[in-house]
Amino acid sequence: MKKIKVLTVFGTRPEAIKMAPVVMELNKYPDIFESIVCVTAQHRQMLDQVLELFNIKPDFDLNVMKPDQDLWHLTSEVLLQMKDVFEKINPHIVLVHGDTTTTLAASLSAFYAKIPVGHVEAGLRTFNKYYPFPEEINRVVADAVSTFYFAPTQRSVDNLNNSGIKDNIFLTGNTVIDALLYTVENHKVDLSALNLEKNLKTILLTSHRRENFGKPLEDICTAVRMLVEKNSDIQVVYPVHLNPNVRKTVFEMLEGISRVKLIDPLDYAPFASLIKDSHIILTDSGGIQEEAPSLGKPVLVLRDETERPEAIDYGTVRLVGSNTEKIVNTVQELLDSEENYKKMASAVNPYGDGFAAKRIIEAIRNNIVI
Ligand code: UD1
Ligand code: UDP
Repeated sequence: MKKIKVLTVFGTRPEAIKMAPVVMELNKYPDIFESIVCVTAQHRQMLDQVLELFNIKPDFDLNVMKPDQDLWHLTSEVLLQMKDVFEKINPHIVLVHGDTTTTLAASLSAFYAKIPVGHVEAGLRTFNKYYPFPEEINRVVADAVSTFYFAPTQRSVDNLNNSGIKDNIFLTGNTVIDALLYTVENHKVDLSALNLEKNLKTILLTSHRRENFGKPLEDICTAVRMLVEKNSDIQVVYPVHLNPNVRKTVFEMLEGISRVKLIDPLDYAPFASLIKDSHIILTDSGGIQEEAPSLGKPVLVLRDETERPEAIDYGTVRLVGSNTEKIVNTVQELLDSEENYKKMASAVNPYGDGFAAKRIIEAIRNNIVI
């Protein structure tokens, strides 16, 4: 029997985490699918951490990452290198994920080669083209050139419909929940190496978005300093993204501050454990907004807009932006009021049930004509 040739392309840490369940699912059916993995390595170290955890050995590694890379070089490099991969493989479908430069360039490259694109995590929108930048336009373009849409929530289905896309939309849930449940189940982690104080409440912080570079990130760091000064019973842990634009500000402003722990990005399994052990999450990350609510942790989002409003509707996520006073006041409110904390800490899972990858594979199997 002829097999369906699926080329899965990803390049950054979050894409790898969210595509790993899809690759693992494809690998379960070697009689039906020929699964080929291409990493652009838009991220290097942070990607490799995930490949190792999920035991994924890419067939192609474009190794494009440069220190402090810019969008022009990155986009053109991926666009061009993907052409060669498509010529070698000639897949029946190319799977891309989300909204990164890898997503934009790989999907556009596949469109030029007239190969159908399947967009995993399709349909997310803020409807503000500069926020997040450049991700909002990356996902709009990826959706525009795609043929198959794997939408994580009903709201993302509605967004696609409202933009005129009506066919081949599959409501699948988000594969991040598949990845999270798999990891929590299969990788027990000992966090003792982090030397966290057991009797302090942990606030987990991550921030890496381009919109927050400079003054907003400084304001976030100032909020952290004020919070640890005011509250002797908290500690802040910040796994600092490897982007030099982030590291410079964060280390200048927070290094050496008592009860603030700056650490390197954690492997996914310890990071998931750290979410579980934390009291409150402060983040501008997309993925963490989806993961933390399903582990029953309140999330304060360090952004003014989000393409993930579902958990806000459930009351477990709140937008606080990068305003120092707003961050300090909102965290303080959660530290002081057990009732308000409990309201936010209810475990809800608007993003998936752990079977998203299964639904994606099923949809490909039923809809690709070879
Ligand atoms: C990228 C994505 C963003 C996503 C984020 C996830 C784009 C435009 N941005 O942003 O949507 O939320 O990844 O983390 O696609 N670096 C390393 N090692 C690594 C990773 C990064 O040294 O493993 C450094 C390099 O100097 C690199 C820089 O970080 O040039 C920026 O990486 P890049 O992928 O361009 O941007 P991110 O801010 O990571
Ligand atoms: N993550 C991780 N180690 C860390 C910080 C985050 O494994 O030190 C995971 C996190 O659980 C989530 C993903 O990385 O699944 C989010 O990546 P990131 O915040 O870089 O990107 P975004 O989701 O904003 O695109």
